[in-house]
Amino acid sequence: MDGNGRWALERGKKRLDGHRAGAATLERVMHWAKAAGVEILTVYAFSTKNWKLPQDEVDGLMKLLGWFIGRKKKQLVKDGVRFRVMGRKADLPEKLQKSIADLEAATAAGTWQLVVCLSYGGRAEILDAAKKFAELPATERDEAHFKNCLYLPDLPDPDLIIRTSGEFRVSNFLLWECAYSEFYITPVLWPDFSEADFNAAIASFHSRERRMGGHK
Ligand code: FPP
Repeated sequence: MDGNGRWALERGKKRLDGHRAGAATLERVMHWAKAAGVEILTVYAFSTKNWKLPQDEVDGLMKLLGWFIGRKKKQLVKDGVRFRVMGRKADLPEKLQKSIADLEAATAAGTWQLVVCLSYGGRAEILDAAKKFAELPATERDEAHFKNCLYLPDLPDPDLIIRTSGEFRVSNFLLWECAYSEFYITPVLWPDFSEADFNAAIASFHSRERRMGGHK
């Protein structure tokens, strides 16, 4: 969800205002994604490196996440959304960890998944998985078992990864899982990401030939 900071600065606002606008965009994107037949939406909300942001921005983001989690419970349950967090949850403030666990439990029966990456890093995930993997017997040390050591092993790899704000980087997002993902990069800043932008990304995805490393 990149470009919140620039969006705010362009308007003479605070970076946190950009994140607030970004949270509103996420709610809209969830509707469009559902309508388009998407079953799982994963968003990168806070990276392992984001702890180095100015303290007031970190605190503000934690508050915003707490607010979203507190306010959305009823709606998510009603809409059949299963809310899940992936990342180093133990890094998060204890109160937020509790409300995440509460929302995950309350929405566990949902069939449409919203996955929020928090204190997440692709390398951290691979490293955390490698520690579990090392405990496995030698006969089980293959790709399938490695995947089982990732944070949410039941999730399929993402089909499409959308990067807003025009950056041509992976930025440590889903490094293991993105092996065969299609990428769509748009210069639009996340708070401005519209239904037309979303539809353009989906149309681009459908126009691609996916060989997944094999031949047709
Ligand atoms: C990156 O843009 C975005 C973030 C560090 C935070 C994204 C978080 C939200 C939108 C909070 C809402 C999330 C939920 C699940 C309610 P940036 O600020 O680095 O943008 P810049 O590259 O323009 O500086």
